[in-house]
Amino acid sequence: MTGSAKMGLGKRGSKTLGLALLVVLLTPLSQAMESEWPMTPMNPDLQNLPSLQNGWRLFTNYCLGCHSLKYQRYERTADDLGVPHDIVLEQLLFSGQKIGEQMTTAMDPEMAKNWFGAPPPDLTMVARLRGVDWLYNYLRTFYLDESRPFGVNNKVFPNVGMPNVLQELQGTQTTGCASAAEENCGELVLLEGSGQYTSEEFDQAVYDIVNFLYYTGEPSRLERHRTGVFVLLFLVILFVFTFLLGREYQKDVKH
Ligand code: HEC
Repeated sequence: MTGSAKMGLGKRGSKTLGLALLVVLLTPLSQAMESEWPMTPMNPDLQNLPSLQNGWRLFTNYCLGCHSLKYQRYERTADDLGVPHDIVLEQLLFSGQKIGEQMTTAMDPEMAKNWFGAPPPDLTMVARLRGVDWLYNYLRTFYLDESRPFGVNNKVFPNVGMPNVLQELQGTQTTGCASAAEENCGELVLLEGSGQYTSEEFDQAVYDIVNFLYYTGEPSRLERHRTGVFVLLFLVILFVFTFLLGREYQKDVKH
């Protein structure tokens, strides 16, 4: 009995090893495939509260319908981002939830899978999984492609199952190609005046959403930053006193 159990484990062990090797071998491949698009870098800024607040608002309006942030609570977010609770209750809590609850989505995962081919994943940690540059470029590179179910494709995530939910803000982008079969044929071109935002305003909006997702990826980073500033201030004050004390000693030595 023990022997066969051991053997079973051994088999499973080698399977796991094989799988791990496969992952190790395939990871650089998939990354190389994804990084073909020349990524515009994005530098998150957790000190920029208006940006984080706007990101939260945009996320609630344009993303939460499909994607949850289930490791993030409304109340904690409000306190971290300096949003008064009554504003959260009025403007950010749509689904009759309570402020102490997590930001779940009303979307049923099974139905979503039928509609989109893939269920919209939870996005709490997405900035850590994909990186902020990836997210920033992903949300800005949807373009028209009639061959896709939602009529759009994406430069950073080819053949993605997500519709272009920010199209009304950004406007319509094309590649100047007839179909997606012609890969990489030309730059993205924005149809002038087709969106509510100018391209600068749109880039800022996407920046704010990604900044917000960077925050949800590790909310304690905000706290750590504040503690860091406090520690530095403490060190500066300590230095001043040490310096003055040192001068006193010098005087004694000289006399
Ligand atoms: C109508 C539903 C819907 C809305 C609204 C929506 N998405 Fe998606 N999203 C999806 C689906 C479906 C996928 C999975 C696509 C796939 O795997 O092919 C997805 C995938 C993603 C991914 C890729 C996740 C990964 O790591 O694979 C990101 C990032 C993302 N969405 C961000 C957003 C953001 C940000 C918003 C709001 C601006 C948003 N989505 C709004 C349906 C939606």
